[in-house]
Amino acid sequence: MADGFAGFEFTPEVEAQTRPLWEKVKARVTPLEWRLQAPLIAAINRLKVEKNAVILAHNYMTPEIFHGVGDYVGDSLGLAREAAKCDAKIIVQAGVHFMAETSKILAPNKTVLIPDLLAGCSLASSITGADVRLIKQRYPGIPVVTYVNTTAEVKAETDICCTSANAVQVVEHVAREWGVDRVILIPDEFLARNVARQTDIKIIAWAGRCEVHERFTAADILELKAAYPGAEILAHPECPADVLEVSDFAGSTAAMSDYVLTRKPKQVVLITECSMADNVAGDAPETEFLGPCNLCPHMKRISLENIYEALLHDRYEVKVETGMADRARLAVQRMIDMPPLAIPARYDLFKARHHVDIELI
Ligand code: 13P
Ligand code: SF4
Repeated sequence: MADGFAGFEFTPEVEAQTRPLWEKVKARVTPLEWRLQAPLIAAINRLKVEKNAVILAHNYMTPEIFHGVGDYVGDSLGLAREAAKCDAKIIVQAGVHFMAETSKILAPNKTVLIPDLLAGCSLASSITGADVRLIKQRYPGIPVVTYVNTTAEVKAETDICCTSANAVQVVEHVAREWGVDRVILIPDEFLARNVARQTDIKIIAWAGRCEVHERFTAADILELKAAYPGAEILAHPECPADVLEVSDFAGSTAAMSDYVLTRKPKQVVLITECSMADNVAGDAPETEFLGPCNLCPHMKRISLENIYEALLHDRYEVKVETGMADRARLAVQRMIDMPPLAIPARYDLFKARHHVDIELI
C-alpha cells in the first residue's frame, strides 16, 4: 500500500462495516491484505456518498475493487447501459480508457473520472479515425460495425457499435437494415472470425488483437482437458477461433459469469483475464476454478489507492469533444437500443462450421 494511505486504520468499526465484503473476497484475498484494503474500501464508500458518485467496475477489476467498491459491475455492454441510465453526478470508471469515454459519450453532463489515464487497450490503439475513413472510401455502402473497445474518434466514424455479448446480433441487424450481405466489423480480427462462423453475412475485418486473449492456444486447452477431464472450459470471443473450437462455451465476461452462476459446474476454467475467476468465485463457492489466465496490464493499472485519489481530487476527468461525442453517441445508442440478447450467441453453429473466410483489410 502506498505511504500516503498509512493513516487508514483497520479499526473495529471498519472491520464491522466491511465484514459482508470480506465474505465475498476471503477465498482470494489474505487477511493481511484485507487489513490494508478494508479501511480504504470504507473511505471510498464514504466519499462516494459525499460526492454523489458511482463506481462502474469491469469484470477484470481485482476482487477488492469488484466486490468492495463497485456499484455496478459487469461486462462492457452492461457498464455502458448503466452509464446511460445512472443518476449520479460523478462516474468513476474502474476499467480502461475506452470504457470511460463510452460513459462520457452516453452521459455528457456527468463528470467521468478514470483513476489512471494510461489504462489503455491494445484493440483501441490498433485503429484510428483516419483508418476508418479510408476503409469507408474503400467499401462504400457497406455498414461499419465497431467493437466498443475503440476510441471515441473511431466510434464517431461508425454506424453502430457492438460488444462481444451482441456482435452477431448487431451484424445481422445492420445487414438487414441496410439490405446488404457484407458488413465491416473492426478492429478485432479474432472476434470477427468468431462472428463469421455464426452468421451468413460476409465479414470484412481489421487485424487488431487483444494482447491478453491472443496468447491462449488450442494446445493450452487440450492440455487442460487432459489434466482436468471433468472441468468445463469457457473462453472469451477475443481468443483465436481454434481456442473456442475446443472449449465448451464462448461468451462475453458477463456471459461466462452467468454460465457459472446458473449451471454451477463442479470445476471450471475461464480462458480470459485473471481477475474474472477471482470475482466469480466470490459468488460461486461450490465451483472450483482451475487453469491458466493472462493479466491485462491496462486493467491492472486501476487500484483502490488511485480510485480513492480520483474521488478525492476529481481526477482524471475524461472529456470528449462535443461534435465527436454526438456522432459517437449515435453509434453506441443504436447498440444500446437493441433488445437484450440471450446467451450464448449461436455457439453451436460456430462449432458446426470449421472454417469461414473473412476479408482482412
Ligand atoms: P467484455 O465486453 O466481455 O466485458 O470484454 C471487454 C474486454 O475488454 C475483454 O477483453
Ligand atoms: Fe483491451 Fe484485451 Fe485488456 Fe480487454 S483484456 S482491455 S481487450 S487489452
